[in-house]
Amino acid sequence: MVYIAVMGHGVVGSGVVEVLQQNHAGITSRSKEDIRVKYILDLREFPDLPYADRFTKDFEVIVGDPEVKVVVETMGGLHPAYEYVKRCLRAGKSVATSNKELVACKGAELLRIARDNNVNFLFEASVGGGIPILRPISQCLAANDIFEIVGILNGTTNFILTKMIREQMSFADALTLAQELGYAERDPSADIEGQDACRKICILASLAFGKHVYPEQVGTDGITKITLTDVEYAGSDNCVIKLIGRAKILDGGHIFSAVYPALVSRESQLSSVDDVFNAVMVRGNAIGDVIFYGRGAGKLPTASAVVADVIDCVKHLSARKYLFWEDGKEGYVSDPLEDNTRLYVRAKTEDKTAAAEEIRRTFEDARILSRPCEDRQELAFITPMSTERTLRRELAALTSLRVESILHVLD
Ligand code: HSE
Repeated sequence: MVYIAVMGHGVVGSGVVEVLQQNHAGITSRSKEDIRVKYILDLREFPDLPYADRFTKDFEVIVGDPEVKVVVETMGGLHPAYEYVKRCLRAGKSVATSNKELVACKGAELLRIARDNNVNFLFEASVGGGIPILRPISQCLAANDIFEIVGILNGTTNFILTKMIREQMSFADALTLAQELGYAERDPSADIEGQDACRKICILASLAFGKHVYPEQVGTDGITKITLTDVEYAGSDNCVIKLIGRAKILDGGHIFSAVYPALVSRESQLSSVDDVFNAVMVRGNAIGDVIFYGRGAGKLPTASAVVADVIDCVKHLSARKYLFWEDGKEGYVSDPLEDNTRLYVRAKTEDKTAAAEEIRRTFEDARILSRPCEDRQELAFITPMSTERTLRRELAALTSLRVESILHVLD
């Protein structure tokens, strides 16, 4: 028998207990271990649950019990999850977590502590919910030099954008619907402002490229300013707008990483990833492009990934899984403004003809867009490829139009 503890009985934590109980026979026969939940840490009372006797409010009970070999962390947030996980690892307990903020901010340090204490720190559920992505990157694709990861990493924003594109629903109405359906995080700003996707691309980039990429190093922009007008202009250019998380290796070994809403061509596979689905494209030098697709959130899909990590920890109680990255270093992540890109620009102007001429003078090969029922004072165009810094400087110098919206165009 192997005893585990679950810290946090919220959506994912309760799902972990449920999956372990429901699938107990199958998990036992596959893992050859009888995994039992000894404690559940939560400040709330759950007197009606059949396993109410396992609840504790005292973390010391868990960390001080030598019988507990694996601890699940599903509390979310940085504190006290960080302190608790650190103490569990130092006490010789392996940890499985779904907490992306914890891994994105403290992953390198916690992996090092796990290594030094000969235990495992696993976090498959922190990216893409139930979609297997971290284990495939660290094991199945280990023979590759991965040079880019690009994907749709947040289900809530993808749901909102899908409603805007397919049903012309406003951003505000689509967000309300996402909240009613339980997709958005408790605080939807983490979804709609891009921080959730940012944490996930940090984890993916750190794992794929071997050095920690911290959230504050990733240029992050959300979808709050996207309008139906932008959606319509994108459609006129055979594109849809998606919130993209991206990390790639640059010449010289630096990393580019960003999260931003972008126009994605309908010819790209990412353009057809709709609703709450996530997709992560991994580009490797031997494998080419691989796409991982599925439900990126939800109680049981996420719990299934956590439980798989628990099983892996239990099967490797005295061995280490190879999952590691080093601390980041200064200058490792480049300034996103130095990236080469094309930009979509929507602007207001008093004189459309003069504005169109100025755009063509400034940007050789700029493409002016049009949409049905276009406002007489409105103009939208796609710039040619250049560094974002150069494009923004040139846009700021335009005199015959006032820029209202700038989005990236995914190349
Ligand atoms: N709120 C997140 C999403 C949940 O919508 O993708 C999983 O991180």
